[in-house]
Amino acid sequence: MRKILIVFAHPALEKSRVNKKLIEKVEMINGVTFHDLYELYPEMDIDVKAEQKLLKEQDAIVFQYPFFLFGMPALLKEWMDLVLVHGWAFGRDGNALKGKLVCHIITTGGSKASYAKEGHNRFTMRELLSPLEQTARLCGMRYLPPYVIHGTNVMKPERMQEHAKHYREMLRLLADQTFDPDSLTGLENLVDQFRKG
Ligand SMILES: Cc1cc2nc3c(=O)[nH]c(=O)nc-3n(C[C@H](O)[C@H](O)[C@H](O)COP(=O)(O)O)c2cc1C
Repeated sequence: MRKILIVFAHPALEKSRVNKKLIEKVEMINGVTFHDLYELYPEMDIDVKAEQKLLKEQDAIVFQYPFFLFGMPALLKEWMDLVLVHGWAFGRDGNALKGKLVCHIITTGGSKASYAKEGHNRFTMRELLSPLEQTARLCGMRYLPPYVIHGTNVMKPERMQEHAKHYREMLRLLADQTFDPDSLTGLENLVDQFRKG
């Protein structure tokens, strides 16, 4: 069993439709620890040592958040800047996260078609996430393609339910030690893999 930490960041969970649905039963999945940053640190007073200790115990780190202005919510960026530091996460002697898997689970208001060269958002998700891919590489982590759920603003409850099911399947697969995550590396969006069944 792989140990998975979900580092979750949603600044207004009470108003959330999609992320709230996704995380409903997440703590029941074997191997998964759910870590809600806005609940833990509403004043942004991140306990860096405690976060680093928690990360070291994991095999995979999953960041989950709604896409805000083509990036992550502010507390998660602050967390990254403070926790993933030189000398610990990267640089000479900075190898605390080396070999761990990393994946971003993101919900977007924009449609899949909008995240393309010809679409109104002009860039693909893989392109927009390239600083995060490079951060993972800097830390010697194994970067998986992102798991992106598009079109959340107009999503119907039945579709959310379907997404929640696939999300749990994805986490169960990742937690399965016999599953080789390298089989996913060429994909554009992990969601497509799971929606095929
Ligand atoms: C401040 C803010 C910025 C946003 N920026 C983007 C964006 O850049 N691209 C996009 O596709 N959606 C954007 N959205 C839409 C959110 O991504 C969407 O509401 C969210 O994924 C829905 O998830 P939830 O139901 O869990 O809140 C933004 C929403 C807010 C409130």
